[in-house]
Amino acid sequence: MALFQKKTGTKPEVDFERLPRHIGIILDGNGRWAKKRGLPRTAGHAVGAETVRKIANYCKDIGIEYLTLYAFSTENWKRPDDEVRTLMDLFERYIVESIEVMKRDGIRMDFFGELTALSPALQQLMADAREESSHHDGCQLNLCINYGGRDEILHAVRKYAEMYKTGEAPELTEEYFSSLLYSTGIPDPDLIIRTSGEERLSNFLPWQGAYSELYFTDVLWPDFSERDMDDAIIEFQRRDRRFGGVK
Ligand code: IPE
Ligand code: IPE
Ligand code: MG
Repeated sequence: MALFQKKTGTKPEVDFERLPRHIGIILDGNGRWAKKRGLPRTAGHAVGAETVRKIANYCKDIGIEYLTLYAFSTENWKRPDDEVRTLMDLFERYIVESIEVMKRDGIRMDFFGELTALSPALQQLMADAREESSHHDGCQLNLCINYGGRDEILHAVRKYAEMYKTGEAPELTEEYFSSLLYSTGIPDPDLIIRTSGEERLSNFLPWQGAYSELYFTDVLWPDFSERDMDDAIIEFQRRDRRFGGVK
């Protein structure tokens, strides 16, 4: 383990035996990062995309099983057209460039969100990336694009209502309801990180995050480093998770 730690540069306080299985990140602060430098907001998004590559790679290296990144919310369409366009272009480029990396590293890629609102080209790329990587057995990267937690729940409710109408609906348990969400089959996030100093969830995984540990940092997403990730994990490992019981 010490050798591995040397290779990854991971802080020695990180306990590799007790890593979170699933980490969710609300990546925030790209706009402020750019503003501080007198740059357009879109420049912050471009650097933020590099941070996504770096952090996804690091999580894969240290053995995180699932990483879920909130990249575009159902509310982010309110932003100026050129910003939305830049973000969509960055998503396309990121997916195209990830295909080879996913093959090399055995990463699976999935997408959470109402994807039918996205361009046909982007939808096709997502379908290809998901399909081509589905048999990989490494870490799973979930990109939330046009994702909203309330929207996801409504989707699931509508699906259930359709089944109910035709008499095919199984008993409505928490397990069954979870299986109707985008995150079907994936354990709930153990840890949710938000960068940039904002301390809210902004519609990210309200169902799945019911018992997640929350970690907020002032670091802006383009500046978020592997060592900042270590700090989040170290803090997570200090927490006492009780899930309503006693210890
Ligand atoms: C996060 O950075 C990226 C997205 C939400 C798409 P922001 O663009 O929200 O950056 P700030 O919050 O304006 O600094
Ligand atoms: C949340 O960030 C959405 C994503 C990170 C994709 P926002 O910057 O859109 O959230 P608010 O507006 O500060 O709540
Ligand atoms: Mg923001």
